[in-house]
This record gives sequence, C-alpha cells and structure tokens, in this order.
Amino acid sequence: MRRTLLAGNWKMNKAQAEAGAFFHDLDRELGSTPVKADILFAVPFTLLERAKQAAAACHHSIHIAAQNVHWESHGAYTGEVSIGMLKDIGIYASLVGHSERRQYFGESNDTVGKKVAACLAQGLTPIACVGETRAEREAGRMQEVVSAQMLAILKYAGSQNEKLIIAYEPVWAIGTGLTATDTQAQEVHHLIRGQIASILGSARADTMTILYGGSANPANIAGLLTQKDIDGGLVGGASLKAKDFAAMVRAVK
Ligand code: PGA
Repeated sequence: MRRTLLAGNWKMNKAQAEAGAFFHDLDRELGSTPVKADILFAVPFTLLERAKQAAAACHHSIHIAAQNVHWESHGAYTGEVSIGMLKDIGIYASLVGHSERRQYFGESNDTVGKKVAACLAQGLTPIACVGETRAEREAGRMQEVVSAQMLAILKYAGSQNEKLIIAYEPVWAIGTGLTATDTQAQEVHHLIRGQIASILGSARADTMTILYGGSANPANIAGLLTQKDIDGGLVGGASLKAKDFAAMVRAVK
C-alpha cells in the first residue's frame, strides 16, 4: 500500500517571515485531526532552516526538502550546494531534475542521473522529475521522451533505490492552469510504473511513489488521486497559500 504524498514546491518564492507565517496558517487550517497524506515542502535554500523550525512546531509531521542539489561532495562549483551540506542542517530530501532546472539551467538526463545516484548513495531522498513539453506531446513523442528521462534515472539509481520517488510533470501543465486530465496523467504513470517494473522488478514498481505535478489544485487533486498509479502531487502555485494546500490535504481520502 503506497501512502499518498503531497509535496509543495515553492520555487523561488517567499522570505523568512512569509515562510514562518505560512506554516503557522497551515497548522491552523489543518487542525489536529489526523491527515491521510505525508506532507513535504521543497523550499529555497535560504528558507530551509526557518521552514524546518516552523514545520516542527506544527501538529502534523511536515518534511522540508531542497529544490536542487549537486552530485559532488565539495569543491570549485560556485553557486552549488552539496548533499553533505543539506544533511548538515538536517535536510534529507531534494527535488532533482525539475523541468525548470532542465529548461533554464541546462540539466540533462545525465546530470539528473548523477544527482539521483549521489542522493541515494548518501541517504538523501531524491524526488526525480520527468515530463514532456507540449511540442514533444504534439509530435507524438511523449513516451519516447519520458522513457529516456526515466531510463537515465533508473540506470543511475541502481539497486540502492529504496528512497527514490518519481514525479511526472508534463511541462505544458506546469504553471499554466492546464492540468492533465485524470486519464492522461494515469496513462503516463502506468507507462512509468511499467518501465520501473521492467528494470527494477515488479515488487519495487509496486512500492514506488509516483507523484503527478502540473497545475494540481484543490479542485482537481481528488480526481487525480482516484487513479491507480497516481500516489500524490507535486504542487507549485497551490502550495503557496496555506488554505489551498490544506484543502488539498483534506481531499486525500
Ligand atoms: P504548478 O507547478 O503546480 O504551479 O503547475 C508544479 C511544479 O512545477 O512542481
């Protein structure tokens, strides 16, 4: 049985005080009744410690993650942050290969794979992102693109992959208000789980958490979660407002 994970992705948003206020509001919105999902927020590096503190004061367990990490342990990589540095401040998860990293910062299947491998080797949970662009989908290349991205992730992950989490985020749905339909998302999640089964075996495929991302919101999350292979959401815009995110948590049955 895979437990639902709702992961917020704040991207490049919020300052210290806003982060503190957000968790205070989220805690109030959620109250103390048990929730049916695991909750995580991927926040900018500058907010990791503040968010961790504020989340720790909440009634529910809320995990804090980074949005990116480098595969090397130290050295001449200006502007990068290592896995060891994250663990040093008590952070044990990171997004890896988000489409905005691929699109604007030149991350390739190969660099994403290296990050996944380094995270798994050092005990950090990588939430590895895949997804096709609108042009790729319209050209009938969705399956080819997503399976090449998945192949790199799975090849680099190797056998020590217990912590690996996948997020399918069609690029055309991110921040556009154009969510994939439940059926469109399920189709790709099914392909991804099938590919995991063929490479890592069906037992691992059955336990792998595969999130959907791309304009997920309080109105559409319940439908997406009814799909057999959708195990949760990676939520951008709707994770910035405590009320919206709490509504999504409550939609998990
Ligand atoms: P969105 O972003 O929910 O705002 O579409 C999702 C993401 O990029 O992770």
